[in-house]
Amino acid sequence: MLYQTALQLVQRCIPFHDCVSSINTCVLKENEMEITTRRGEILREATPLAVLCVWEDEQLPPEVAALVETDDFRGWFKQLLVLYPCGALPARRLLLVGLGKRSKATADTVRQAAALAAQKAHELRLTHFAASLPVNEALTPEVSAQAWAEGAELGLYRYLLYKSAPEPEQKHRVEQLLMLVEDDVKMVNTGLKLGQMVARGVALGRDLANGPGNSITPTHLGEVAQEIGARLGMQVTVLGLEELQSQGFGGILAVGQGSAQPPRFIVMEYGQAQKGRPTICLVGKGITFDTGGISIKPAEKMDNMKMDMGGAAAVLGTMHIVAELGLPLHVIGLISAAENMPSATAYKPGDIIKTLSGQTVEVLNTDAEGRIVLADALYYAQRYQPHAIIDLATLTGAVMVALGPHAIGMMGNDQALVDRLTRAGEAAAERVWQLPLWDEYREMMKSEIADLKNTGGRYGGAITAAGFLAAFVADYPWVHLDIAGTAWIEQPTRSYVTKGATGVGIRLLTQMLRDFATVEVQ
Ligand code: BES
Ligand code: MN
Ligand code: ZN
Repeated sequence: MLYQTALQLVQRCIPFHDCVSSINTCVLKENEMEITTRRGEILREATPLAVLCVWEDEQLPPEVAALVETDDFRGWFKQLLVLYPCGALPARRLLLVGLGKRSKATADTVRQAAALAAQKAHELRLTHFAASLPVNEALTPEVSAQAWAEGAELGLYRYLLYKSAPEPEQKHRVEQLLMLVEDDVKMVNTGLKLGQMVARGVALGRDLANGPGNSITPTHLGEVAQEIGARLGMQVTVLGLEELQSQGFGGILAVGQGSAQPPRFIVMEYGQAQKGRPTICLVGKGITFDTGGISIKPAEKMDNMKMDMGGAAAVLGTMHIVAELGLPLHVIGLISAAENMPSATAYKPGDIIKTLSGQTVEVLNTDAEGRIVLADALYYAQRYQPHAIIDLATLTGAVMVALGPHAIGMMGNDQALVDRLTRAGEAAAERVWQLPLWDEYREMMKSEIADLKNTGGRYGGAITAAGFLAAFVADYPWVHLDIAGTAWIEQPTRSYVTKGATGVGIRLLTQMLRDFATVEVQ
């Protein structure tokens, strides 16, 4: 295996923007590691760092108890202590990681513990370390292993692409992790592999949403999709300006018309329609930069609007995972990509546009552009007669007001699908919270002179936005996920969620799709 330093990656990548977010198979990214398993006991292992997970209020193994005052380490969740056994154990260092009460632990407990352990190994500038897996009644070895791999790799995620001279601590890479396993080696390996695939899909999503608007353009998103498709065997079609015009994508064209960057509509198809295989459409908002257009946003924090393609990033990351996993599903990824700019050619308040569905929209605010580009994609999705359509979009500031940074806003027309996402959100620790979508909200989006208007006034902004989208999905089961409050984080609370782009939605969708793959469809 060839390893490259972050610096070499930077030098290689800056002149070639295309490779910014492609996962290169022969080069490990700074957060990726090689994970191997072996039967054995962590306290018998000669390693630079042995990680021992400890439950709150449970006795430490006697060899460890001899090294620490019990009062100094109680096993509280996220409590950490580095010990130097000085020959009392084969390991040079012993890291105790508190998990909290055994009865309360979930996969997310392990995910966070693993992130803390990997971050400590990184801080100590170690290239490899060893650990063992915590299990309880709810945590099978496979689930625990998946969570460990996800947490460790995601906890080490950094965005260094544009650092021409990274600090030594940034450049340092934790290369290898050895998991010591009691007996279920096979299940543990399956879980670790799955966790690594998931983490790499999430890192791809984070890279895209962290990437600057001048690099991550609609054209670039199309190229990333093509690259993933070619590498993992998915059919990818990218519609350019002329195709959008001839096929009538009036929404995407209107939003994109003020920009020098041409818009794109991206179609990724994994698997094919087949009896017993659900068809699921994932739809992503890909506004690669949202200035607000003529209804321009204030200058403060406008730079953050490079992440307005977080929905598209989630679709790309998820498609990557789905294809790597080979799930027995038919999954379509659809991305509406455009840059929302003010200019002499930009669409204006008062304009009336005709969307792909034929429905007309009166533009009252050019900053409510996400719903307009999604309208075309949601309408397009129907041609697959899908069992489910899920769209992800950094759609409204209003969802941040409603739910803050701890939940994705969810609205839909099918309670079974809503419940499915709720369960997946709990399991993946990417929680969703349902808001109502009663007819009254849809009514609020009707225009006096066109079929719809693109804003519904001050109140209930997250819901009226969904009310607008609902006009384009007809009767297919559909859920809208508003990730405006969760796609970016300034002050992370979970140890594997790093500052900046979170890659939210990818673990949630992966969880949901894996559930879909295990149930029959009539
Ligand atoms: N991309 C924004 C929403 C957003 C805000 C995402 C903050 C992430 C963080 C969206 O296009 C937008 O501007 N929405 C407007 C809609 C309004 C004009 C009806 C909003 O929420 O203010
Ligand atoms: Mn906007
Ligand atoms: Zn936007």
